[in-house]
Amino acid sequence: MLHHAFKSLVVALAFGAHAVSAQNSATSLVSRRLTEYLMPVASETHEFARVPNSNFVLLSQMSDSQLIKIELNPTTEEPIAFQSFPMGKNSSSQLHGVWPSTLYPGMMWLTLQADNQLLLVDPGKNLSTPPSILQTIDIPAPGNGPHCVFEIGNRVWAGLKVASEQTGQYYVFSADVSNHTDQTLYPCLNSPVFIKEEPTTGLIYATQDTDSSIMRINVTSGETTQLPIPPSVGNNAVGMITGYGPMNGVWFTLAGNATGGTGTFGHIGSTGEMEFFQLQHPMLGTNAGLLHIADASSVAGGPALWLLSTSLLSNNSPDALIRVTFDADITTISGEEYISMLTQNAMVHRVLPMDATVLVSELHTFTLAQLTYNNTIAGQWLPAEAISDTTVYTQAG
Ligand SMILES: *[C@@H]1O[C@H](CO)[C@@H](O)[C@H](O)[C@H]1NC(C)=O
Ligand SMILES: *[C@@H]1O[C@H](CO)[C@@H](O)[C@H](O)[C@H]1NC(C)=O
Ligand SMILES: *[C@@H]1O[C@H](CO)[C@@H](O)[C@H](O)[C@H]1NC(C)=O
Ligand SMILES: *[C@@H]1O[C@H](CO)[C@@H](O)[C@H](O)[C@H]1NC(C)=O
Ligand SMILES: *[C@@H]1O[C@H](CO)[C@@H](O)[C@H](O)[C@H]1NC(C)=O
Ligand SMILES: *[C@@H]1O[C@H](CO)[C@@H](O)[C@H](O)[C@H]1NC(C)=O
Repeated sequence: MLHHAFKSLVVALAFGAHAVSAQNSATSLVSRRLTEYLMPVASETHEFARVPNSNFVLLSQMSDSQLIKIELNPTTEEPIAFQSFPMGKNSSSQLHGVWPSTLYPGMMWLTLQADNQLLLVDPGKNLSTPPSILQTIDIPAPGNGPHCVFEIGNRVWAGLKVASEQTGQYYVFSADVSNHTDQTLYPCLNSPVFIKEEPTTGLIYATQDTDSSIMRINVTSGETTQLPIPPSVGNNAVGMITGYGPMNGVWFTLAGNATGGTGTFGHIGSTGEMEFFQLQHPMLGTNAGLLHIADASSVAGGPALWLLSTSLLSNNSPDALIRVTFDADITTISGEEYISMLTQNAMVHRVLPMDATVLVSELHTFTLAQLTYNNTIAGQWLPAEAISDTTVYTQAG
């Protein structure tokens, strides 16, 4: 007995190094976790953005015009506290757009859709400090209802989502940030949402959701052109981002309609041609209603996009975060990672990659969801197809 125990001890000592490394691999479990953070109760939780170089995220609740200031743990990026502030004339002012200013570092642009105003605010250094308004831009008639706001170069842009009281028309608004009298209303279709610059040509592109078209604006000539989405690929152009490097151009998503989405997103490069990509996964991808998009490129994972499928327009589309990767010349999709949201029918709205985590707003459930990876990187989670379906069916049967 004693002899046996002694022998075991010698073996344990001899293999000590191995035992330690085996233990390490056992504890460094690969995980992909979603956590939901409850925000104040409101029927519409909309836009959000991180205040650059700070631990604050600003989130808009449109239904009661409240700005939620959320403090993040600087190390883990986990939300730890929030405070809400009413914005606008009253609770019907419809706070919506939230966008960081580059010209005024640390300041944020907001829109009050019902008050017909853009605000530049200082969010305040502390959680409890109320945001202070630095600039107010009144949208000139006949423009109506600024929804999303963006700063591009020295100009601020807003899509006017409400039909004009004077003309019945929709407009894209643009003003020089340092000289508000230099402003333009570009007539557009129903109705403008995202506005982005194509980096090579400097042309501006705006998605228009209901009329399912993209407007191109040459700011120098004032000329505008409509690029209708072919109904054969889908409809309802909403989310749009500017891509750089290998992803150069603008990328946009199609949210679908009441019968569901088509899992389609598109790209416009310097040639001005629309090019479409379609998700392939039969249960999750081909019916995805893609509302929003973000750059997911990383050194380790290469060029990639985050796509957000929402149940906002149809229960036939899942609430899911999808990471797509591409082949080297960005002509075909090479990988699709699906992360179903914890709460289905939450009507997810926007996706925002942070340094190490990804935040998603859930419009209908007043929630901010956070995705965290541990010991793996986004996009390297093994796909379900890693073991063939036949094997699964055989073994399950
Ligand atoms: C993530 O992995 C690290 C290193 O293996 C570990 O220390 C940490 O506890 C893990 N975190 C979570 C939340 O699992
Ligand atoms: C907010 O103000 C507008 C315009 O002044 C007014 O029409 C509306 O009734 C007010 N709403 C509330 C909830 O007080
Ligand atoms: C912000 O918080 C710090 C530390 O709690 C405090 O010293 C400072 O006075 C606060 N500033 C404002 C403007 O409230
Ligand atoms: C501001 O813009 C207006 C309209 O474009 C222009 O007439 C005016 O000269 C500009 N002011 C300055 C200081 O540049
Ligand atoms: C925009 O319009 C200007 C003036 O007409 C023209 O010189 C320029 O080439 C146009 N830009 C693009 C990218 O087409
Ligand atoms: C909804 O979109 C699908 C796919 O693009 C299209 O076939 C269908 O006609 C659309 N339905 C309506 C009511 O517009």
